[in-house]
Amino acid sequence: MSEQNPSELQQVLSNIQKFFMQEVDLFGNVMYPSESGKGKKTDETAAAGYPQEPWASAAALDELNARICECQKCSLGVTRTKFVFGVGNPHAEIVLIGEAPGADEDAQGEPFVGRAGQLLNKILEAIHLKREEVFICNILKCRPPNNRDPQPEEVEQCEPYLWKQLELIKPKIILCLGRISAQTLLKTNDSLTKLREKVHDYRGIPLMVTFHPAALLRNPGWKRPTWEDVQKFRKKYDELMQK
Ligand code: URA
Ligand code: URA
Repeated sequence: MSEQNPSELQQVLSNIQKFFMQEVDLFGNVMYPSESGKGKKTDETAAAGYPQEPWASAAALDELNARICECQKCSLGVTRTKFVFGVGNPHAEIVLIGEAPGADEDAQGEPFVGRAGQLLNKILEAIHLKREEVFICNILKCRPPNNRDPQPEEVEQCEPYLWKQLELIKPKIILCLGRISAQTLLKTNDSLTKLREKVHDYRGIPLMVTFHPAALLRNPGWKRPTWEDVQKFRKKYDELMQK
């Protein structure tokens, strides 16, 4: 680069600024410099953006569950009955993400086992998927009292567990169930209508959005658009599997 070319310098500076802004978005104000002298291998834990904690090095889902199931990082640790890690195929190509456990889930320790869960099983059948084939989990692993919406500080503490789950499962695609789940993961206030329109990217994984099954129980009129969403989802999944 030479002094005769200020626009090139500007471009470089702007790229550097962009890089650091992305770092801040991903990791907050903590720097994770890669250790020099160790070749190209980067610290995967740092790359994923979660803190250096004992659970972060878990090599399998069961191990991760064992290390985090007594979590007391937020107040839901006190009020929960059971920690709801998630259920399904540890090598699933598809991960479904709901919002948080409800009363039935809190009692049984498994996501989507209540009425909404029954409906979810039917939705999966409609696209020729069995519950056991996919992996089902929630943003929050513990039930918020009275099923209130997740609080930002609860999400902040709990979302890294989801990142680690995805790192271990390595799914091809994610289906977000409901507005809250999608808005929370994608860090947006966009409406569900808007969010359903396209394929998003969540930590490098294609993510699609549809209605929450509990919303369909209240509003059966949303079943038809849900059916259309999941047909599109199935098509996208089939495409990804061909690559
Ligand atoms: N609703 C959710 O979002 N998750 C569950 O596990 C059950 C109901
Ligand atoms: N409102 C929600 O919270 N979720 C839906 O899926 C639809 C409306």
